[in-house]
Amino acid sequence: MDGIVAAATVEAETGAHAATESGQVTIRVAVAGHRGKVGSVLAMGLQGEPDIEYVGGIGRGDDLAEFLHEKRPRALVDFTRPSEALHNALAAVAAGASPIVGTTGLSATDVDKLETACKAKGVGGIVAPNFAVGAVLMMHLADIAAPHFDAAEIIELHHAGKLDAPSGTALSTARRLAARRKDKPFTHKRAEKETLAGTRGGEEGNVAVHSVRLPGFVADQEVIFGLPGQTLTIAHRTTSREAYVPGVLLAIRKVTAESRFYRGLDELLDLR
Ligand SMILES: NC(=O)c1ccc[n+]([C@@H]2O[C@H](COP(=O)([O-])OP(=O)(O)OC[C@H]3O[C@@H](n4cnc5c(N)ncnc54)[C@H](OP(=O)(O)O)[C@@H]3O)[C@@H](O)[C@H]2O)c1
Repeated sequence: MDGIVAAATVEAETGAHAATESGQVTIRVAVAGHRGKVGSVLAMGLQGEPDIEYVGGIGRGDDLAEFLHEKRPRALVDFTRPSEALHNALAAVAAGASPIVGTTGLSATDVDKLETACKAKGVGGIVAPNFAVGAVLMMHLADIAAPHFDAAEIIELHHAGKLDAPSGTALSTARRLAARRKDKPFTHKRAEKETLAGTRGGEEGNVAVHSVRLPGFVADQEVIFGLPGQTLTIAHRTTSREAYVPGVLLAIRKVTAESRFYRGLDELLDLR
């Protein structure tokens, strides 16, 4: 209840909601990184939503403070770079806009700073390393399976342009799965004779992680569990960057309606 009151106060302060000709109140949303691979898809996606007014995007070299002052967004979605995201998000909060940060690589201290700023201003916000609803559910379902299988391996498959390996999602999945096996760690079968170095993949918490980098993929991941006589595969496939649109829309609607700060889409989906 407090959150709703606080959010309403900010709206009154910024005038960041607008009404359509039919009288429907819309949420004014801007995108930082609107020319990027994800940002451009989001900018398109936002423009098709009746309750959202896309007020524009901001790119490298643009004056963010002036943009926020002029466009008065109620939410700023950020898919830029780790070095820029915190600065953008804090500027948004200072202007009374909710930060919705998809940019990966923020430190825990950065996220703490943003949460503190959001609370002080009475606006909601979210930092989520994965806005694909299916990917978040894949990890949740793998968490459920982990206690029941003695071995697990992860195969993640991404586009050839991805710089890091393994993906943050794969690493975080392996850590979560290992944490579910505290009393009885997973077994990990090493090759007795590895004739090609690295063939068994990396390893985190006794979970082997294999990274594939090929043109044609966007971002896929399979978690394979094994027990004698059976395997269980939980797989998430992304066919385009539109995969991030539903999760971002969900976040926009949620964080502009209340003043809560979320760490991860799973928290927002109440999966924890
Ligand atoms: N949370 C998720 O679900 C999720 C999913 C996919 C990707 N990501 C993350 O999202 C981020 C962007 O990914 P991407 O693939 O879209 O990268 P990208 O194609 O390189 O796009 C980044 C965009 O940010 C712009 N930019 C750089 N500095 C800026 C600033 N100071 N203010 C505003 N815009 C700025 C860039 O502008 P220029 O074009 O001028 O360089 C570029 O358009 C990465 O951190 C990635 O890991 C998150």
